[in-house]
Amino acid sequence: MEKNKKLIVANWKMNPQTAEEALRLVKNIAGRAARGVELAIAPPFVYLDMVKKNCGREIKLAAQNVHWEERGAFTGEISAPMLKNIGCDYVIIGHSERRYKMGETGEMINLKIKSALRHGLVPILAVGEREKNGDIKKTLAEQLTGALEGVGASEIGRLVIAYEPVWAIGTGVSDTPDHALSAALLIRKIAGGIYGKELTENLPVLYGGSVSGKNTGEFIGQKGIDGALVGGASLEAENFEAVLASAVSGDAE
Ligand code: PGA
Repeated sequence: MEKNKKLIVANWKMNPQTAEEALRLVKNIAGRAARGVELAIAPPFVYLDMVKKNCGREIKLAAQNVHWEERGAFTGEISAPMLKNIGCDYVIIGHSERRYKMGETGEMINLKIKSALRHGLVPILAVGEREKNGDIKKTLAEQLTGALEGVGASEIGRLVIAYEPVWAIGTGVSDTPDHALSAALLIRKIAGGIYGKELTENLPVLYGGSVSGKNTGEFIGQKGIDGALVGGASLEAENFEAVLASAVSGDAE
């Protein structure tokens, strides 16, 4: 992650349906990385190369998933060296849609994190509780300790964490900025329990879950929230422009 910038990641998920639409979207976004904001696009695998070629040098490339092995008989999978080779900087790992719809386990997430780090990709590790009144402390502690098992102290500084309460994803009901901030502090505290405060007090934590042009600034304007993971609002150029405008207006640093 770039220093002194907030990171906005556009997670397109399994959209759009044609390469033409994807090209139109990326062309509309290209060149829009605003002052104080680092912008990354996470398209489906099939569009990675096209997005890389059309997004301009300012915009970073992110993958939505990765397999933990480098090569071999893993039909349908994509490895970290492949992603690095095509120009990816980031990879989202442990998104709740992969955990709960695709059956991804904590062990798989841990292997993916380690493979991404080994091959020079920055993992964006997504964590978050499923229910609004769920046991957030227990969930975050379990997800973080599982994902970071065997990740060395020299590597923790290369990770980005995304706090994404599952109940806020795609629902139009976002978390409150205050609660998201307390979750970000809790994430740093849990990581601090493993690696020590010094290595984790600046651990970047993004917020994700119904981020829009109306609320981005409120989340990332807070000192302890380092950016946003944006799903639905990243799929229309106009909406995404509003997200970026809000990001700039709310950037308190
Ligand atoms: P959303 O998705 O912005 O559509 O809620 C966020 C995410 O799943 O990363």
